[in-house]
Amino acid sequence: MKIAVIGGDGTGPEVVAEGLKVLKAASQRVGFSYQTQSFDVSGDRYLRSGGDPNSPSIPVIQDQEIEQLKTFDAIYLGAVGHPKVAPGILEKGLLLRLRFALDQYINLRPVKLYPGVPTPLAGKRPEDIDFVVVRENTEGIYTGMGGVQYKGTPYEVSTQVNCTTRMGAERAIRYAFELTRRRGRKKFLVLVHKTNVLTYVGQTWFQAFQDVAKEYPDVKTDYNHVDACCMWFLKNPEFYDVIVTDNIFGDIITDLGAMIQGGMGVAAGGNINPKGLSMFEPIGGSAPKYTGQNVINPIAAIAAMGMLLSETGRNKDDRKLMQAGQIVEQAIMAVTVKMKSQAAGKMGYSTTQVGDLVAQAVQSVSV
Ligand code: IPM
Ligand code: MN
Repeated sequence: MKIAVIGGDGTGPEVVAEGLKVLKAASQRVGFSYQTQSFDVSGDRYLRSGGDPNSPSIPVIQDQEIEQLKTFDAIYLGAVGHPKVAPGILEKGLLLRLRFALDQYINLRPVKLYPGVPTPLAGKRPEDIDFVVVRENTEGIYTGMGGVQYKGTPYEVSTQVNCTTRMGAERAIRYAFELTRRRGRKKFLVLVHKTNVLTYVGQTWFQAFQDVAKEYPDVKTDYNHVDACCMWFLKNPEFYDVIVTDNIFGDIITDLGAMIQGGMGVAAGGNINPKGLSMFEPIGGSAPKYTGQNVINPIAAIAAMGMLLSETGRNKDDRKLMQAGQIVEQAIMAVTVKMKSQAAGKMGYSTTQVGDLVAQAVQSVSV
């Protein structure tokens, strides 16, 4: 397996190092071989190469680098985000660019409360918070369609188009049905949208959901408006098994999901092309103020490595990799019970110590 590693900015490289430590332990335990190659793509490099901090003047990642990435089996990303680069430049230039260029049309975000991790929800236990959000990852208001006229005048007009295609909705929905079946938990899939207001794009989603549901009679279904979904996340998270939703709603509800699973220190996600090249990352940012202090929580990045192994294993039909993914998740759960907190600087351990503990647990946990 060939893994492209983009450490990125801030604490990204530190947490990625711990994920790679755990990868090594997993490969020794299960017996698979792999190669990694680092790519220097970051806000730092953008500035060093003469990029304008206030407007996108040069590519954050070059076409030829994307071509090179395509020769890998998976991408492991730390974080991009630089305090000196204006918002939007790195996000669009790297994250969105790769999602679109590699057609990573699924953003897979498990919301799982690991044992020992404090949740802000009173009385909720790990068995109550265990669901997955399937976020559509290439459409909606993320495509950049729209524009601005009469800029800087009182007559300024701007539009940002919610570009929704039947094909895009349908492939995300079908992926979610397959996942719900595979998880085999409650076999319950909820579509989240805002069909009462977004009557055009909402209807495309709703119709696709109903049509695809006919192919999965064993999966129960329901529909929630996105605002109500936020309410249920806090009140009744045990209601959910798998959610499928559009790009922006998925973006928002998964930050809420991250908080109920214990915060950005633990939340991981995968940008997935089910038949192609996928990219795995902790969903938090580069946390520049903690850079170099060995205090940031690497659990999210390690969980992203676990997902990388499971999903790459599934894609390549490689049982060893899938098993390694399971082992990494078990090892994480063996370590979260020992940590004082999941917040940076309060874990009771340093970044590298948490990585060491998970790597050790990888050698001993049973699956
Ligand atoms: C995420 C992030 C990105 C998104 C930003 C950084 C473009 O918030 O991965 O959730 O909105 O998708
Ligand atoms: Mn987000």
